[in-house]
Parts: sequence; C-alpha cells; structure tokens
Amino acid sequence: YLIICTIIHLFSFWGDVAKDFFWKTRHSGRFLDYNFDVTKGRIFIKCMEGATTNICYNLLDRNVHDRKLGDKVAFFWSGNDPGDELTVTYRELLQRVCQFSNVLKSQGVKKGDRVSIYMPMVVELVVAMLACVRIGAVHSIVFAGFSAESLCERIMDSQCSLVITADGFYRGDKLINLKLLADEALQKCREKGFPVEKCIMLRHLSKAAEDDLSSQCPPAKRSCPDLQVPWNPDVDLCWHALLRGASDVCEPEWVESEDPLFILYTSGSTGKPKGVLHSVSGYMLYTATTFKLVFDHQPDDVYWCTADIGWITGHSYITYGPLANGATSVLFEGLPTFPDVSRMWQIVDKYRVSKFYTAPTAIRLLMKYGSEPVYKRNSLKVLGTVGEPINPEAWQWYYTVVGEKRCPIVDTFWQTETGGHMLTPLPAATPMKPGSATFPFFGVVPAILNESGEELEGPSEGYLVFKQPWPGVMRSVYGNHSRFESTYFKKFPGYYVTADGCRRDKDGYYWITGRIDDMLNVSGHLLSTAEIESALVEHAAVVEAAVVGRPHPVKGESLYCFVTLTEGATLSGPLEAELRKQVREKIGAIATPDYIQNAPGLPKTRSGKIMRRVLRKIACDERDLGDISTLADSSVVEQLFRDRCLTTP
Ligand SMILES: *[C@@H]1O[C@H](CO)[C@@H](O)[C@H](O)[C@H]1NC(C)=O
Ligand SMILES: *[C@@H]1O[C@H](CO)[C@@H](O)[C@H](O)[C@H]1NC(C)=O
Ligand SMILES: *[C@@H]1O[C@H](CO)[C@@H](O)[C@H](O)[C@H]1NC(C)=O
Repeated sequence: YLIICTIIHLFSFWGDVAKDFFWKTRHSGRFLDYNFDVTKGRIFIKCMEGATTNICYNLLDRNVHDRKLGDKVAFFWSGNDPGDELTVTYRELLQRVCQFSNVLKSQGVKKGDRVSIYMPMVVELVVAMLACVRIGAVHSIVFAGFSAESLCERIMDSQCSLVITADGFYRGDKLINLKLLADEALQKCREKGFPVEKCIMLRHLSKAAEDDLSSQCPPAKRSCPDLQVPWNPDVDLCWHALLRGASDVCEPEWVESEDPLFILYTSGSTGKPKGVLHSVSGYMLYTATTFKLVFDHQPDDVYWCTADIGWITGHSYITYGPLANGATSVLFEGLPTFPDVSRMWQIVDKYRVSKFYTAPTAIRLLMKYGSEPVYKRNSLKVLGTVGEPINPEAWQWYYTVVGEKRCPIVDTFWQTETGGHMLTPLPAATPMKPGSATFPFFGVVPAILNESGEELEGPSEGYLVFKQPWPGVMRSVYGNHSRFESTYFKKFPGYYVTADGCRRDKDGYYWITGRIDDMLNVSGHLLSTAEIESALVEHAAVVEAAVVGRPHPVKGESLYCFVTLTEGATLSGPLEAELRKQVREKIGAIATPDYIQNAPGLPKTRSGKIMRRVLRKIACDERDLGDISTLADSSVVEQLFRDRCLTTP
C-alpha cells in the first residue's frame, strides 16, 4: 500500500512538472509505463505516451515568446584563447537554430534521420544539435577528441546520413585538424561500404581561399599556418555559405514523446561502443528538473559546466537542462591550464559565475598547483562534481579553497544511461559527507543487492541497482535492443543494474565505490579500488592514484598501485613505506599495497576517466592492450611500461 501511494505521489510530481512545458497534444496512456523484468518479456519504458511536443520549441520559442527572455544571455562563449568571446541571447539562438534547421531541411534531412556532429565547443555545436531536434532528426554527437576510426564506427553504427564538423580548433597550444580527421573517417566509412553523402563544415579557424566556392566564410581571428582544410567538392558544404539566404522562421516538427531524441555512444568494457538512445519527453522533464533543483537554479544565476558537449554531462547540463530553465551559461572551449592554471577562476570572476560544475579529475589537476592561482571567486554559490566519486581529499580542497567553505557541494552520481542525476545532495538542504553522493533524487528508488540478487537492508555494500524507472532513463541501445536488455537487466531481473558498487552507511548515505569490475579479491576479501586510491591520495605527496589487481599465487590478487606525485616529489623508499602505512591505517593490513609505481601521468579517456583496463595490462606486463581508441595520450602508457615494478614484494 505504501509503495502504491509513493508511486501515485511520484507520478503527480512529474505530472506537475510536465505542466510547465508546451505540449502540442496531451498524453493519453499512463504517465510512466514500464517493464524492468526480463523474465516477463521485453524491457520497455514509456513516459507520457501519445503526447506530442518539440524540445527545441520548449527550450527556445517558449523562453523567447512566453517568458519574455529573448534578450537574456543564453551563452557567454569563451574560446581557447582568452579574449576570444561571444555573447548569444535566447532570441539570437532561436534565430540561428531556425536558420540552420532550414539548412538541414534543404539538404534533405528528415524526421528520424541520424546526423553525426563532430565539433569543438563552439556555439554552433549547440545550434547544430538543436536544429536537428527542431526538425525531428536524431543527433549523434561524437566528442571532437575521438579519432577518425571511432568517428567512422559511430557514423556506421547509427547509419548517419550527414556529418557536421569544423575545420579545426585549438586545445591549449595544440592544433587539432578536425576536418582532416572527419575526412579520414568518411574515407574509412566509404571503404567499408557506407558512403556518407554530405558533410557540412564550419569555418572556426580558417579563411576561405580565393578560389574556394564557399568563400563567404568569415576570416579567422588567429592565424593558423598549420591548419589543413581538405575540401572534397562532391561531399563538402560550407556552413556559412549554406546559411546565406536561409530563413530564420522554421515551424518545429511535432514529435511523439517516445520518438528518439539522440544517440550518444559510451564505450563498452567489451565489444563495440553502445549507442545509448534517449527519447523526447522523459529526458526533457528529467534534465530540466534535476538542473533546477540540484543547482537550486535562480533567474539571475550564471552557470558554468566545464564538461564537453560530446559527453552526456554536456548534453544534459550544458544544453538541455539549462536552456529549459532559461538559464545563462558559460560555454568554454579551452583547457583549465591554458594559458595558465588560473584560467578557470578568471572566467568565474569575469562572468560572475554562481553555479559551477566540474569533474574530480579537474579538481585534482588544479589542486596540484596549490591554492595560490585560485583567483577571486566570491560570486560562487554552489559547486558540483560529476564523472566519478570525488575522493575526500579533493572534496576538502574544493570545499575549503575554491568554495571558501560557504558553497555547498553537490556530488552527483549518474550515468550516460540515466540521462540525469540519480544520487545527489540538494544544496543547503542535504547535510553533506565528503565523498558521498548522499541520497536519491525525487522518484529514484535505489537498492543494494548482494551477489545472489537479494536486497540488503541498512548499512551494507554491494551492487547498486534501481527498482523503478525515472523519466530520463535510456530506452534502448541503438540498433540492438537485446544488448540493452542483457547489459542492464539480465544480471538481476526486475532491476536496472548500474554496474557500480555502492555502500550505504548507518545514516542511509550512499557511497559509490566504483565500477563493480574495479573490485579486488585479496585473500577472499573484496576491496574497492576507489577506497584504496582515496587513502593514497590523502598523503600530501600524492595527487592521484589508481590501483589494479595483479594475479598472486597465494592471495588471489595483489595490489598494484600507480601514484602521481606532487610537483618535485620523488618516490623514495621512505615515501613508499609511508604510503603503505597510510593505506594500512585507513583500510586495514589486508589492503597494504604490494607494488607502488611512480606514474607521472595515468592513462585516461578523453573525458578524464582512468583506464584501469590498461593499467591492469601494465601491472601484468601484457603488451596486447586491445582497443585504446579512447585513450587521450598514448605516450603515458609507454612510459609506464618502461618503469614497471619488476621485483616481487
Ligand atoms: C546474500 O547472499 C547469500 C548467498 O550468497 C545469502 O545466503 C544471503 O542470505 C543473501 N542475502 C542477504 C540479505 O544477505
Ligand atoms: C547485439 O549485441 C550483442 C552483444 O550484446 C552481439 O552479440 C550481437 O551481435 C549484437 N547484434 C547486432 C544485430 O548487432
Ligand atoms: C575470491 O577469491 C577466492 C579465492 O582466492 C574465491 O574462493 C572467492 O570465491 C572469491 N570471491 C569472490 C566474491 O569473487
């Protein structure tokens, strides 16, 4: 009875939220209908079935026309080079999106077609994605740090009919010839029998050549002698040339609630990347509401999420959530350390950023340089973290140095698959515990299961699962629904399985302990690598740590620890001893590190996640690394192989 009441209460919560949005037609069926149990048939989630709407209309037209926010700034764009900046209002954004929607239509893009977007962090990336949404096309954004091979794989998997890219961009001092990579990808697709007919290129850095048919493109601000812009007249189209004469009026395509909204690929630990598919209405309600409540959004806020739109964080909390709320955001193209390590705080100060959302990896990076570069930041009100559990050491630095102990920290746990926040504090309302994502968001019902799938009560540790759907949950793996069912629902029928381990303490707080496959089994004890890493990082000389298992004849697994030290520190015998002692004291003798290796850099994905799979290979001296296309910097790996610990402890 209690459960039924809770569910009815919840559906009325989401029903009230839905009243704030524009619906062309109302929904007919149940608000949320689902099956989470593979033993009872096909897995499905349907939210507001029968309703029709358009997200772009809700994000832009409604804000400009109904809420009179046309002159409000949607984005302060800050480029890689300080001083490269732009301001875009809601009215301008609407105009530009409508124009580009007409461009896409003129190129034959229709409702349901997939469009691949491979662009740097520029305003046009938002324009391109929302133009797709306006005409009912499905965007598949591929992070601009991915290789040609990865882009080709994603284009083919989603069968995209058109690719949108840019000539190039700078990441700090490094030039990325993006068009060259896109061309390479298209060539690979062609070789594999999948020719893409059209590629629209934005000129971000280059001036058009005199004889270029698309010479209406604006000149570059920075001279880029090494920029290469190959041009294939059979396929390539110039963004700016296409826009000339395009009307800025475009009636939105009214789509069904459960029509696909976008595909975003996430790397599977095995096999090819999974095309996570999100649908229209549920995702809109979920990102809008989580944004509003988790960041306590106020009309005069300036919000800055440092993620790239190429990741889910950028989709949900740069584009969809903030725009649905009529928020003003910073859109940042550059790096936290370019031209120097105070860049972030200069931007915070310049735009008077009040809500700031970043990743623990960025915090640890900046922490390495101490508190001195942390500039004026008195505009800050709420700080957020995303991407992985934040270790208490970094949390303390973020809280005391960046937030000057006056800003609550929202440590948000969620996934590409969940669409939006799942476990998170609400600012000022939830008492914080450093390193804990605290409690579930409204309507989210977590459980912790043991290996045999039984729900654990009270303080416990095990598999984190969710017992009922929330509007933003993914609907399928694009093109492979059975992969969706087997990845998320097969292990424990009746539950959505996150593949993350989780601990609940005596006060009911949830602590994410890392991917389940990041657990080590040392002499029959299950140890969380995240907890050991956290203990190592608490030592003043350690900036970052990653722990993996190495097979051991007696213990089953031994602990192989990679540590990145602070500037100037060296890994001496005494320091190693101190680190071992530290872990022993924090966790117990069972967790004493066996091997400790100095790692000037750790292998990371471009989104900053440590690639433990690669570290495991290094620890075991296995040279066959498998697919490392998501690795940001492969030179790191060579060095780690060179410096491996050879001695048996
Ligand atoms: C957890 O799993 C074991 C078997 O692996 C079982 O005996 C135990 O009762 C389960 N349930 C709980 C609530 O601990
Ligand atoms: C679907 O995914 C599974 C892996 O879960 C794979 O074995 C199968 O070949 C895929 N099917 C298609 C049609 O791609
Ligand atoms: C841990 O390893 C031991 C053998 O060393 C094995 O008997 C046990 O089942 C393992 N436990 C888990 C949970 O994998």
